[in-house]
Amino acid sequence: MSIAPVRGPFGRLAAAAALLLLAACGQPAGKSAPSDAAPAAAPAPVAQDIHSYARPELARVTHVGLDLKPDFAARKIAGVATLDLQAGRDAKAVVLDTKDLTIRSVTRPDGKPLKWSLGQADAALGAPLTVELPAGVRRIAIAYETSPAAGALQWLAPEQTAGKKAPYLFTQGQSILTRTWIPTQDSPGIRQTYSARVTVPEGLRAVMSAEMKTPDGEPAQNGRTFRFEMKNPIPPYLIALAVGDIGFKAIGPRTGVYTEPAMLEAAASEFRDLEKMMAAAEKLYGPYRWGRYDLLILPPSFPFGGMENPRLTFATPTIVAGDRSLVSTVAHELAHSWSGNLVTNATWADFWLNEGFTTYFENRIMEALYGPERAAMLRTLGWQDLQRTIAELGGPGAPDTRLHVDLKGRDPDDGSTDIAYEKGANLLRTIEREAGRDRFDAWLRSYFERNAFKPMTTELFLADIRANLIKGDQGLERRLQLEDWIYKPGLPSNAVPPKSEAFAKVDAQAKAFLAGTPAAKLTTAGWSTQEWQHFLRGLPRKLSHAQLADLDRTFGLTGSGNGEIRFDWFELAIANRYDPAVPGIDRFLSGMGRRKFVEPLFKDLMAQGDWGRPIATRIYAKTRAGYHPVTASSVDKVVR
Ligand code: BES
Ligand code: ZN
Repeated sequence: MSIAPVRGPFGRLAAAAALLLLAACGQPAGKSAPSDAAPAAAPAPVAQDIHSYARPELARVTHVGLDLKPDFAARKIAGVATLDLQAGRDAKAVVLDTKDLTIRSVTRPDGKPLKWSLGQADAALGAPLTVELPAGVRRIAIAYETSPAAGALQWLAPEQTAGKKAPYLFTQGQSILTRTWIPTQDSPGIRQTYSARVTVPEGLRAVMSAEMKTPDGEPAQNGRTFRFEMKNPIPPYLIALAVGDIGFKAIGPRTGVYTEPAMLEAAASEFRDLEKMMAAAEKLYGPYRWGRYDLLILPPSFPFGGMENPRLTFATPTIVAGDRSLVSTVAHELAHSWSGNLVTNATWADFWLNEGFTTYFENRIMEALYGPERAAMLRTLGWQDLQRTIAELGGPGAPDTRLHVDLKGRDPDDGSTDIAYEKGANLLRTIEREAGRDRFDAWLRSYFERNAFKPMTTELFLADIRANLIKGDQGLERRLQLEDWIYKPGLPSNAVPPKSEAFAKVDAQAKAFLAGTPAAKLTTAGWSTQEWQHFLRGLPRKLSHAQLADLDRTFGLTGSGNGEIRFDWFELAIANRYDPAVPGIDRFLSGMGRRKFVEPLFKDLMAQGDWGRPIATRIYAKTRAGYHPVTASSVDKVVR
């Protein structure tokens, strides 16, 4: 993919960068003293984002008002986006991001047309929409329609849902897909409040990442209208919508779960610790700032484990395992309510600030709720993921193993690997270890408080931790090796691998199995999902088919109801070209579209040449249509 340079002289970039600090203060520019030379309401500059056409330093969106009508037959949303702008007195135009949108009209609130033009479209970034602003016009209304190809939208036929009766629609904005369903400034540093009216066919319900004003909807001409309001300014990638046959069940006073009626009981039981999770998170790092915290469990094609849409985390049904063993994903998305949603990566090069902090925080929640051993197991699995990712990226010298990544000319999703998550979390663990947990926790709590509702860059993070934790302690500064962690590839010398005692026992059982002990004679009683994962991951990629058959027969791996266990088992089976597992792999890949499972399994199959390639192409030919664009475009690069 090639991304054309999107903006003009480099000089402006540098100037904007120099003003970064100012932006980070989050001071509304309107409060600076007005003078004739300097426009009274010129927006505060924000970090330059190479993945947005917006020029917020001239005119920036502060609020998005949406009026949306999804059309399930045409697979389009027809909408009006009314944007409130902050701009200097002599601002002549506002530049928005769009991708695959049909613009019908752009008007002033009184209906008078405004001049607009769409620039040339880039394959990844879409096209800039420039709207001329006559003097004093600070609100514009854009009537538009999405395309059936919109990257943020997945339209599901009834057969792709649990209930099989009603269609379903959901959005996924991160990283740069919001522009495929909303014409706005689609950059994480440009925070916006939003309100919405969504009119859906009778019998369906709309939910959004916002306060629900009309739980049952209001009668409308052709169906029902649901209204929403998000009063906190958020980055636009967090605007999210789902429409379908969606029920609700309360878990606690501030928490509950939305999902299709068929899933409701199972989901509410799986996540019954949700209220306790919130309490643990708040005790660690300060008050939850968003009011309610609900979950939306989506149909199986949802491409991610979870997505931290504010007030309403979207999650894959593959974490509803029946035994609460996969709730760390919910801890992760909840943690984003601080790291990511409150303090937000200013650009996608700073993605590690979202995911590394969140992965660290997630593990602290898990430790608080389920104890240090469970947390240690999860950290160890994460460490294994990190080692694997470093190897896949080309080893410890590979540029993409840096925390601060270079995304020039690339889609941000190409740079978002496990490095951001696991190397990022290990940096924070290093700081915790060197500074002491109490000092570290106090700093992190204050970091969220100080930077709430603001964009964060890697440089500002360094400035913050130096000013508020290190405070000139040269010894601590040296021991941390912060610059090495952030700007150098691989892992610095002070990285310490996690240890789990439970896993040491698992290793002993794996050894016994390899030495000839039959599977039925191994000591596995009471093993958690994490122990099973460690067992399967630790087995050599060269086993006899008799050994594999023994494992599957004894432990029911192919038929496991747990997605993580099935995944690790299928990776082992594919590495060994184990034919009896193929129907199970087929069922797994046909039954869900979570990219983290789908993409590696297709990669594994393709790596098995004559054996695996035909299996991969046969399965992908029938599953591709059911995958979300996010998953399909990733697998397209693998199966060819
Ligand atoms: N925000 C991410 C999902 C994401 C990242 C979407 C980048 C688009 C671009 C979310 O919080 C996440 O990290 N999900 C993980 C689960 C988590 C437990 C590691 C996932 O989906 O696997
Ligand atoms: Zn995350």
